[in-house]
Amino acid sequence: MAVATFHFPKGFLWGCATASHQVEGNNTNNNWYYWEQTGHTKHQSGLACDWWGGRWKEDMDRAAETGQNTHRLSIEWSRIQPAPDRWDEDALERYRAMLRGMNERGIMPMVTLHHFSDPLWLFEQDSWENETVVPLFEKYVRRVVDALKEYTTLWCTINEPNVYALNGYVAGDFPTGKAGHKGMNLAMKVIANMLRGHAAAYRAIHEIQREARVGYALHYRPMVAARSWLPLDALMRDIQYNGINMAFPSALSTGVMKSPIGNVRIPEVKGLQDYLGLNYYSVDTVKFDLFNPQELFARRYYPADSDFSATKFIANLPQGLFDSLKWAVKTYPNLPIIITENGVEDPDDRMRPRYLAQHLQQVWRAVNFNWPVKGYYHWSLVDNFEWERGWTQRFGLWGLDVETQARIRRPSVDLYAEICKENGISSEMVKKYAPEVLEKMFPG
Ligand code: BGC
Repeated sequence: MAVATFHFPKGFLWGCATASHQVEGNNTNNNWYYWEQTGHTKHQSGLACDWWGGRWKEDMDRAAETGQNTHRLSIEWSRIQPAPDRWDEDALERYRAMLRGMNERGIMPMVTLHHFSDPLWLFEQDSWENETVVPLFEKYVRRVVDALKEYTTLWCTINEPNVYALNGYVAGDFPTGKAGHKGMNLAMKVIANMLRGHAAAYRAIHEIQREARVGYALHYRPMVAARSWLPLDALMRDIQYNGINMAFPSALSTGVMKSPIGNVRIPEVKGLQDYLGLNYYSVDTVKFDLFNPQELFARRYYPADSDFSATKFIANLPQGLFDSLKWAVKTYPNLPIIITENGVEDPDDRMRPRYLAQHLQQVWRAVNFNWPVKGYYHWSLVDNFEWERGWTQRFGLWGLDVETQARIRRPSVDLYAEICKENGISSEMVKKYAPEVLEKMFPG
């Protein structure tokens, strides 16, 4: 093995990402609360990580002590605007305290304005199905940015519009669940309105704070055809790849949203991003499948011999992160890229150390091509409420005992701490935490 260190550029952002509904607890006024109450989730979020009760403080202590210099959190719209005609100043004050607390700990906040959860009153008006949501979102964004602007300049308008829309309207794992509110047409309408919402938010934020850096977080899934010699597999791969990934990126590049049900002109959104936020987890293999009409005759899966996570939700395919970054630079030359999410569900921390090390090696390769990758947010800091999967998946560097709120330190905490403090990843670290990939990462 070679003794070496992969160094990262000075000022690289190292942190974790979280979302309001997943960590705050007691969110009882949004679409996810409804979804939990109607039995669509494995468990209920309950207190979650009790951030609303104040435990964000101890978790931010953990982040700071382990060398993290940034944290991506989201603001809960239903707390800020509990009813269409009511704004909650106390809630805004709590978020101000949270961001101030991060600043005091040397942690720069990245603020996401929408991460899957909608206020119940908006849900009753069919959320993002109607264009009427756009000025409502803008109004909320203005309120939040006005209140928080002294603590950060880094904003993420909407998290994973594609996951929100496709999981909600096509797969049915996320709300809505309302009779008749299903199908690809509606999903694409929702994404189109999210693009309009992003554009309105982008302009509003810059109006309030000229130096702001505004983007969104794209869930990007590289895909490969199962049998490269079979044109049908290649065709299915292209349809799935474009359908799942391309709506937002195409509209931001050209002002026209590419979609499986036809293109939509949204000229006002063209070029409106100051960085690309990239959420990367894994790569899908795609195969033609006559018996799967609901997914347009394709099947997406991981090969049976993959390095699987605990519930097989994720296959450890680090090269996919490099390919995602390559796609990003090709699509938007010179645009800064921030990895806004990357991580794995792994209660016993068997895979996380190698997943982390191997993915960061790919990020390092990218920065060595001078690609403008500016930061990395691990998903996540502490186990948090995993949407319809409830507590069955554990993504935290720290584990969570849901009953007692105790945090359990996993070995990955120390690996990530060493990486953040060194601003690099060394063969020594890999030898200590993930010896099984040492030779692969540092051959010779
Ligand atoms: C979402 C997170 C989620 C993570 C792991 C991402 O798609 O943005 O909210 O917890 O995946 O499932």
